[in-house]
Amino acid sequence: MASGRPERQAPPEIFYNEEEARKYTSNTRMIEIQSQLSERAIELLALPEDTPCFILDVGCGSGLSGECLTEQGHYWVGVDISSSMLDVAVERETEGDLVLGDMGYGMPFKPGTFDGVISISALQWLCNADKKYHHPPKRLLKFFSTLYACMARGSRAVFQLYPESSSQLELITQQAMKSGFTGGLVVDYPNSTKAKKMFLCLFAGGQSQTLPKGLGTEEAQGAKTQISFSDKRDRMKNARGKSLKKSRDWILEKKERRRRQGKEVRPDTKYTGRKRKSYF
Ligand SMILES: C[S@@+](CC[C@H](N)C(=O)[O-])C[C@H]1O[C@@H](n2cnc3c(N)ncnc32)[C@H](O)[C@@H]1O
Repeated sequence: MASGRPERQAPPEIFYNEEEARKYTSNTRMIEIQSQLSERAIELLALPEDTPCFILDVGCGSGLSGECLTEQGHYWVGVDISSSMLDVAVERETEGDLVLGDMGYGMPFKPGTFDGVISISALQWLCNADKKYHHPPKRLLKFFSTLYACMARGSRAVFQLYPESSSQLELITQQAMKSGFTGGLVVDYPNSTKAKKMFLCLFAGGQSQTLPKGLGTEEAQGAKTQISFSDKRDRMKNARGKSLKKSRDWILEKKERRRRQGKEVRPDTKYTGRKRKSYF
């Protein structure tokens, strides 16, 4: 339910206040989930074995995800918008360097700094307009383009995320592609409501890379555990020559885009995009 989502309740710097930050790190179930997600994200980074790497943790919070990086011998820097979450990270004596900052303003690091990036349960926050002047597509673009710049060529960024809708996910992937990333979505346990998890796996240039497979593939029985950006590009390529404009898909996408822009749009019906008879 959208209204039950933390992103709908308050801006992140308010939602993750002192009380929530404490709750976050005293709840053993929460710690277990965050650690599992972080370990999977680190696995998807496909870092060279037995080599300490320099990793950025976006939305590092109280440092639960960072601790998994430390355990695996990596060095890290964490960025988070909530000072209360970072205070808890300091209290817990996490090893990473901590930066208070809003990812929507971009990543303030030198070009090619990081060997990899992880982000656990944070990216969907960027799709909300918490201030009057917030424009989610622009904030996402600023974030992804500055992120791309501070990553070593050929490195990966893995985001575990909880998108609110398919159009939100589409907006995120569009802005990532515009910033130069390739890659796609890896879905673990796609047929399980409880265990299903989404990881946006982005490649920052370099040689072409294969998108990893989602877990639970055997039980997935045909459900897609990978959706790569190139699938979409190929669809567009194959359709070359045919007019995509005015097709039902094209119209639905355009209407969705206008809704995202806050414009008034007529509801979709079974007649949307239906061919009209030509009398001429
Ligand atoms: C669910 S918590 C995850 C924390 C962390 N990954 C961990 O394992 O403890 C999501 C974090 O994203 C941060 N966040 C949300 N929006 C942000 C933004 N615009 N810029 C930076 N951090 C943000 C929140 O403050 C929160 O600490």
